[in-house]
Amino acid sequence: VCIRQATVDDLLAMQNCNLLCLPENYQMKYYLYHILSWPQLLYVAEDYNKKIVGYVLAKMEEESTECHGHITSLAVLRTHRKLGLATKLMNAAQRAMQEVFGAEYVSLHVRKSNRAAFHLYTKTLGYKISDIEAKYYADGEDAFDMRKDLKPKL
Ligand code: ACO
Repeated sequence: VCIRQATVDDLLAMQNCNLLCLPENYQMKYYLYHILSWPQLLYVAEDYNKKIVGYVLAKMEEESTECHGHITSLAVLRTHRKLGLATKLMNAAQRAMQEVFGAEYVSLHVRKSNRAAFHLYTKTLGYKISDIEAKYYADGEDAFDMRKDLKPKL
């Protein structure tokens, strides 16, 4: 399995992976908005058959004073979990946020009940809980608003 930057030709497979893995789904125009705006922040995990088995979709937040990145969505197909792919996808997106866009930190939302993702973010990647957003999700579940500082480029 290899990790590489996504192209427009990967977007349907990314959307399919998202539909299989998460209840938070997006229209194709939202994927297009990401890749047109921040092409360096979309990565896919591709297996030896050229099948997309994971993705990260990320963006830059421009409205606030502090320049920061945001992970919109991350998923790896069930068949390919626990192989370190999500860790690699996240590291690729975080590195580009910092090196290409000068992000000072990266943020994301995760369901309180999502133990696998919470372990990845806190234990593997070093994110901290910055806030709790009550009833953030459509089904009423709360979100952890998580953040990780990115080291300034030397
Ligand atoms: N329970 C506990 N720990 C877990 C689990 C689990 N089910 N799955 C992975 N981990 C741990 C791993 O052991 C590893 O820990 P280590 O670094 O201490 O060894 C760490 O998490 C990272 O594991 P990876 O192999 O890099 O993660 P993986 O490729 O399996 O993907 C993911 C993790 C993305 C959460 C996957 O389970 C998934 O796609 N889940 C469904 C979709 C989802 O929840 N996406 C995130 C939503 S939040 C958002 O999108 C911003």
